[in-house]
Amino acid sequence: MKLHYSPASPFARKVRVVAIETGREGEIELVDVRPTPVAPDESTVAENPLGKIPCLVTDDAGALYDSRVIAEYLDGRHDRQRLFPAPGPERWTALRRQALGDGIMDAAVLARYETAVRPPELRWDGWTEGQTLKWRRTLDRLEGEAPGLGETVDIGTIALACALGYLDFRFPGDGWREGRPQLAAWFERFARRDSMVRTEPEA
Ligand code: BEZ
Repeated sequence: MKLHYSPASPFARKVRVVAIETGREGEIELVDVRPTPVAPDESTVAENPLGKIPCLVTDDAGALYDSRVIAEYLDGRHDRQRLFPAPGPERWTALRRQALGDGIMDAAVLARYETAVRPPELRWDGWTEGQTLKWRRTLDRLEGEAPGLGETVDIGTIALACALGYLDFRFPGDGWREGRPQLAAWFERFARRDSMVRTEPEA
């Protein structure tokens, strides 16, 4: 299998963490493509018309995207503890947390593009502030939920950890830990997992 990815993408990191946690990483060849919204990679567009990464090209299911679909595909191919729990309250909790983690990543990536990709004369501070507020509100809610995260390793906690890792990577001055000690303590523990250490983005 080939994974089109960018080392900085938190969504690609989520897929790579899933691949390591499920023991399938050895089957995946990484293809580093680094597209932007205005400069897609043509080899990725040939597989995914949206031109978005991560995109996993499989032998039996064609090209798969986005990170949720790829993660569920990989989770169907191993004998360890499932990262997507079976239908029931545990599953909905994991999927809801995945939605929160993905939502933080969406907002943070859009805010990042605003300064890294958009020409200065076209920037709109109010819009960036709106993205920032999305992740701050979500982190406030997660602070209340943090004691319940415990040692759980599933698609929900993986998505949350990748989202927090991206904030550290691209928004080091955000200070998200301030006023959120429980979430910060949970992340310090989770970030020590081999899968997180090995996928940490480099500046
Ligand atoms: C980044 O450089 O922050 C980035 C790259 C690819 C996808 C998302 C974010």
